[in-house]
Amino acid sequence: MRKNLIAGNWKMNTNHLEAIQMVQKLSYRLDPADYERVDVVVCPPFTALRSAQTVIETDHLGIKLGAQNVDWHDNGAFTGEISPLMLHKLSVSHVIVGHSERRQLFGETDEVVNTKANAVIAAGMTPIVCVGETEDERDAGEAEARVGTQIRASIEGIDSESVASIVVAYEPIWAIGTGRTASADDAGAMCSFVREQIRDSFGDAAESTRVLYGGSVNPGNVAGLMAKQDIDGGLVGGASLDPDTFASVVRYWV
Ligand code: PGA
Repeated sequence: MRKNLIAGNWKMNTNHLEAIQMVQKLSYRLDPADYERVDVVVCPPFTALRSAQTVIETDHLGIKLGAQNVDWHDNGAFTGEISPLMLHKLSVSHVIVGHSERRQLFGETDEVVNTKANAVIAAGMTPIVCVGETEDERDAGEAEARVGTQIRASIEGIDSESVASIVVAYEPIWAIGTGRTASADDAGAMCSFVREQIRDSFGDAAESTRVLYGGSVNPGNVAGLMAKQDIDGGLVGGASLDPDTFASVVRYWV
C-alpha cells in the first residue's frame, strides 16, 4: 500500500526565522496519528533549511524536510549551486526536481531533470519529479503526449527498486498558482496515465511509486482529489504558506 504524502512547496518565501515559526505552528496542528496516515514534507528555501532542521530535530517533530531544487554534482566550481550531499547532511529527505517554474524560468530540460533525479537518489534522498502540460497543450489534446514524454525522459536510467520509492508530481502548469484546479476526474486520469507510463518501463515497481497532484490544491478540493485511486497526495504551493490552511490540507479526511 502506498502511504499518502503531502508536500508544501514554499517557493521563494520565508526567511529562516519565519520558517521556524511556520514549522512550529504546523506541528501544533498535527497529531501523531496524522503522521501515521500521511508523510508531511515542508520544502523551505535553502537559506531556511538549517533552521527548519534544527526545530524538527530538537522538538522531535514528525515533519520531513524537503528542498526545492539541487545541482547534480557532489561539489566543485559551480558558483551558487547546492549539492545533493549538502542537502543530505542537513537531513533533507525529499528534493523537488523539475518543477515547472524551474523548467520555464530557468531552462531545465528533461535531461537535466533526469540527471538531478538520479543524483538525488544516489545521495540517499527521494526526488519529487514534477511533470505537467501547458494550457495550450491541454487545449490541443496533447496533455498525455507531453506528460508521457516528460515522465519517461525524467526517470530514465533509474533502477526499478528506486523507482518504487520515488515520488512523481503531476502539476498542470495552468493550475499552478492560478486558483484553477484540475477537476478531480481529470487529475485522477492524468495520475493514472503517469503510473501507466512508469509501469510500461518499470513493471510492478509502478504500483509503489507515489503520484501526487499539484496545482491550486486547497482545503476545499483536497478530499475530492485524494479520493482518486492513483492520487497519493499533493504538492501544495500557496496553501502551504499558512500553517492552519496547510494543516487542513494534510488532514484532508477531517
Ligand atoms: P500552487 O503551487 O499550489 O500555489 O498552485 C503548486 C506548486 O507549484 O507546486
